[in-house]
Parts: sequence; structure tokens; C-alpha cells
Amino acid sequence: MRTVIVFLALIGNVGLSAQTKKAYNAIFSGVPWFDDKGNTVSAHGANIVKDKGKYYLFGERHNDTSNAFVGFNCYSSADLYNWKFERIALPLQASGKLGPNRVGERPKVMKCPSTGEYIMYMHADTLGYVDQFVGYATAKNITGPYTFHGPLLYNGKPIKKWDMGTFQDKEGSGYVLLHGGDIYKLSTDYKSISEQVNKAFERGFESPAIFRKDSLYYFLGSDLTGWERNDNYYFTATSLKGPWIKRGFFAPQGTLTWNSQTTFVLPIEGTKETTYLFMGDRWSFPKQASAATYVWQPLAVSGYNISLPGFKEAWTVDQKTGVGSSITVKGEAIGAGDTGITYTGNWKQDTLAGKSSDEKGAIVSFTVKATQIGIFGLARPDGGYAGIVIRNSKGETVLTSNVDFYSKYPVVLLKFMGPVLKKDTYTVTVSVLGERWWWKEKSGRLSGSKGHYVSVSSVVISE
Ligand code: GLA
Repeated sequence: MRTVIVFLALIGNVGLSAQTKKAYNAIFSGVPWFDDKGNTVSAHGANIVKDKGKYYLFGERHNDTSNAFVGFNCYSSADLYNWKFERIALPLQASGKLGPNRVGERPKVMKCPSTGEYIMYMHADTLGYVDQFVGYATAKNITGPYTFHGPLLYNGKPIKKWDMGTFQDKEGSGYVLLHGGDIYKLSTDYKSISEQVNKAFERGFESPAIFRKDSLYYFLGSDLTGWERNDNYYFTATSLKGPWIKRGFFAPQGTLTWNSQTTFVLPIEGTKETTYLFMGDRWSFPKQASAATYVWQPLAVSGYNISLPGFKEAWTVDQKTGVGSSITVKGEAIGAGDTGITYTGNWKQDTLAGKSSDEKGAIVSFTVKATQIGIFGLARPDGGYAGIVIRNSKGETVLTSNVDFYSKYPVVLLKFMGPVLKKDTYTVTVSVLGERWWWKEKSGRLSGSKGHYVSVSSVVISE
């Protein structure tokens, strides 16, 4: 059992179960997160609002079967690592534009300074994406429930565009951003548009997000490839009215924004530093609820340069000082002669790492004494879904999860990081589901994985 006796550098054992509040002590990217109840955090296309010292995360609630709107979720956190499920902030409506068999995406909440109300904006659409507009909903309390009011109007008309974002400037003005680069200023009550301040300047440029540092505005967005990843890029300007100057990619070209799509940038202001939290989505249709993950990275900002120079699997941010620090998550390779690991079905040694299988029902399992368990694997163009089950020493299931092994380019990544569990001996099974990420883009083009491979390369545990 040499192989799975490995160490997890700096991942401390906080000794609490998944049902308690502190399950994580870092921001992990590219792995499913579990909330205070042990459920997968489902909040994509999200934004974060800091209110009375707490962070509130609003995002798309998904299921694993269809793209139809099922509501927007709200979670809260004090540290950005551990998320408490608050409620479905905007539920599926009985009928209408956010009723059954519609699409609702990219919810963004801002507090209106003049009324004190919380206003949520979103992209509403048909399942085929042919009736898009920016809608809004309001609530007295930040967690909701929000009341949906239909389209946000400009000169009495809806804004018929799809990807949207929001930006609140220092003096409290609110803006709605649209794909292509349109920027609209909100009225003082945030319930209509008073003025268009910038016209679209770019084809595509989806998932728009703006943040500001000093007197410079940064406008981030993605290329137009549906849920498939691409190299996202940005513009800068000294005024929201432009002119916007194209600055290029902000993650190394070819990493496809470290396999993610922009949704929001949150400045975390501390006594020493401001850390700019880049929030990206790693989509995974159809398993958007269980297997789509979050790529949250500290954005380096210097003059007009912004970058995500290296992918941080785990990092921390000090809520007092604002200082971000990296954490190294180390694992030990699972070798061919390892005795503590059982392979059932057809597994082959990989050239890059570990063993792989695309045989539905094939299983790799291991038993470890641990409080936290992580798994590294090879994400690949023909990667598929794995089902992970963790059982305790009594044989009871304590956690189930789906993990997506797809990436357009092969790369070994942390694919799973469970929450901190009670000290016990756990048996982990990773099984090949024989299913994969795929999506038919608006253009009709098919994207996603070409196979069903699951490749496990190493395991990390915290005892
Ligand atoms: C893009 C958009 C998403 C969603 C998908 C659907 O990725 O940014 O919000 O609309 O397309 O294809």
C-alpha cells in the first residue's frame, strides 16, 4: 500500500465532517465543490456580491439532463472556500419567459445604492436561443426570493442580446454589459436603462466582464464557441465610453483560458493588497450540475497588463490583508505494481500518467485512512465522465460525485478534491460511466469529447 500513502502539502486537517462548515481551506479550481450539506455547488455564469462582510454567490442552478432553466442559486461564504447553500434565489416560474422549457443564464446581482434593493439581471431565452433579452428581478433581502419583472427596458424596448454581465462603478452607477461590447448605464433605481454608453465593437466577445483598477477599466470576454473553451481576451479604456484598446489574451495562448470561460472579476480589497479574483466556468454539458467546475484564479494586474500566468490548483486569499498565496497539492503516482489499488475491467498503462479505461463499468478502487482525498488524472480530448463514490469503514456512502476527464488538449490535473471528512478508513471507487461531454453549438457544430476515457494518475490524502 505504498502508493496511496501520500501527502497533501499544506492542506491542513481541519477535522470536520462534510456536514460542518469548514470543509476546505483553499480555493480549488477544476474540481467539483461541495456545499455545507455535501451537495455539489451549482452556480455557473455567476457573480459575487459582498454584503455586510459576507460573500454571496449567485449562479445558474443546473440539472444533469437538460439545459432548461431550473432557477438561480444563492450561496454564502466568509472565506470564498466554503459555501453555504442559502436558497434558490430566483425559482423556476410557473409560466412565462423564465417558466418551463426556457433558458436562464448568467445571473448577476447588484445592490442599488439609491433604493437599497437588490437587483438581479439575467439572460432569458428559448431552449434554441432565438428569443434572447436581458431580464431583471428584485428582492428586499440579498438571498431573495427575487421577483421576476421581465425585460429590462431601454427607450421602452427590451435589449435583445444574449451573453450579459454587470459592472458597478466606484460612485455607485450600475452598468449592464452585452456580448460584443455594448455597455448600458442603468437608471438610478437600476430598473431600466438610462443611456447606452458604448456600442459593440467586436464580433463574438461573449461572457462580458468589467473591473476597474484606479482609473483604468478592463473588459474581458470570450470567443464565440458555445460551451467549448477558447482563449479569452480583453480590452482596456480610461472611460467606459472607450475607446477600447485590444490587449490580447490574458492566459497563455492554447491553454484555452486554463480551460474556462470568463464570468466575473471580483476585487478583494485588503489592508495590504487588492487581489482580483478571476471567475471562470469549466462547462460540462449535459452534467452541468455535477461535473461542470469553477476556475477561480488570482489575476495579475499591472498597468494595462492582466494575466493568469500559471494555473493554480489551490490558493488562499487572506480576507484581512487581501494577499493571495499559492498552495502546492502533491500526489504520488499510482504505479503498475501497486497492491493497494484494485482495477476491475480493462485498464491500460498511459504514456502520460497512470492507467486509463474507456470501458463502461470499469473500476479503480483504493482504501485509505484519511480525512481528505484528492485525485489527479489525465484530462484529454477523448475524456469521459467518471463516477466517484466514497464509503466509510461501515460501508456507508458518504459522498458521490461525477468528474469530467475532458480537455481539448491532454493535461494532468487535479480532478477531484473531497471535503474534509471525519477521520476514518475510506474506500474510494472511480468508475467509467461510458458517457461524455458534448454540445451542439448555436452554429450546429458539435463540440466536446470524442471518447469515454477515465485516466487516474495519482491520489492525494490528508490523514
Ligand atoms: C456560451 C455562452 C453561455 C451559453 C452557451 C450556450 O458559452 O457564454 O452563456 O449561452 O454559449 O451554447
